[in-house]
Amino acid sequence: MLENQNSRNSGVPGLLLLSILVIIFAYCRPNDAEVSTFKPLSETEEKLKLRELGERLFFDTRLSVDNSIACANCHIPALAFTDGDSLSTGIHGRIGMRNSPSLFNVVNQDKFMWDGGVKTLELQALVPLQDTNEMGSMVSDLIPELQKVEYYDSMSLLISGEHFNPSVLTRALGFYQRSLYREQSLYDDWKKRGEDVNKSVKKGYELFSGRLNCVACHAPPTFSNNSIENNGLYENYDDPGRYRITGDSSDIGKFKVPSLRNVEMTAPYMHDGSLNTLKEVIEHYKSGGSSHPTKSKLIKPFELSKEEEEHLLSFLRSLSDKSMKKHWQKVFNTSY
Ligand code: HEC
Ligand code: HEC
Repeated sequence: MLENQNSRNSGVPGLLLLSILVIIFAYCRPNDAEVSTFKPLSETEEKLKLRELGERLFFDTRLSVDNSIACANCHIPALAFTDGDSLSTGIHGRIGMRNSPSLFNVVNQDKFMWDGGVKTLELQALVPLQDTNEMGSMVSDLIPELQKVEYYDSMSLLISGEHFNPSVLTRALGFYQRSLYREQSLYDDWKKRGEDVNKSVKKGYELFSGRLNCVACHAPPTFSNNSIENNGLYENYDDPGRYRITGDSSDIGKFKVPSLRNVEMTAPYMHDGSLNTLKEVIEHYKSGGSSHPTKSKLIKPFELSKEEEEHLLSFLRSLSDKSMKKHWQKVFNTSY
């Protein structure tokens, strides 16, 4: 059927195709001229420019369909790039289904989202941009809008020789996000720089890495081993986690092990923000969690005295990066 129709109409599409090609050719010529004069930046300059561009994009509310929300609304620097809510709120006050994770450690990750369902940071950026509960934009409408912003288009030409496009957008956001990781916490002063820290931090680390074996999943230096596990939150999961990606029932209730760097600032905790404080998190692990066929064998009940709990908390707080609160103020800017 289809073949017949095609051969019958072949004369018209042929002409149409030719005229489209002519139009494209004519349209592309000025661009070709620009490309030929493009001088690539040095690798270092290119990285710096991409990071700078990515930072501006990250804070720009024009990336959402109604100009109301930037990436930084849900990933607030002063909260270690989380948003302080159990579930994030996007455009028109729409509530999403998960807790905003910290972006501090994305440079050390090989899969993204709580279920690890997105393979690269570049692809990841397209998810919130287009999600109707988050920014609600269509990339095909967004790109021409951002091309009109003089700063974006000239930076894009400088970096790639091309007008602002989806590849520059996602690369720049990726560069910015990968630049966020630091090792400037009290824990690093102690372990990396050999400085003395108070006894409570040391005792907390002993518990964390020894008897309680939290390091089996939250392994230093990032305090995540990048695996996907069920840590016993529920007997029945509303959000089945990794199962959504694989459809394999042995993945129900499994979520990505989050990095614990800056954990003091990233409350509320877990994929659904269901635990409000670090004390509640410790209570959860102390109880051994709810029973579930996919729960990790590493999650089992333990005893912890009041004093030991304080030590564990001191250690967890020692993972807060000093650069975080001081330097990364919340800045929203659309004035360029
Ligand atoms: C409305 C709030 C909201 C906005 C706006 C938003 N995010 Fe997110 N972000 C989230 C939530 C919630 C998740 C977790 C989603 C999941 O696991 O399904 C997330 C996950 C991520 C992750 C994965 C992190 C990890 O550890 O796996 C990255 C990276 C990220 N966002 C970057 C961005 C970028 C870049 C933008 C802007 C283009 C952005 N986000 C805009 C709420 C938001
Ligand atoms: C079997 C692996 C595993 C072990 C062992 C483990 N965790 Fe976790 N941890 C996880 C997973 C997976 C999550 C996320 C679960 C979710 O969101 O549903 C998590 C989440 C957390 C969070 C919340 C972080 C955030 O940003 O939301 C904290 C805090 C935490 N764990 C501390 C600990 C402590 C303290 C121990 C030791 C007592 C420990 N964990 C042992 C796998 C583990």
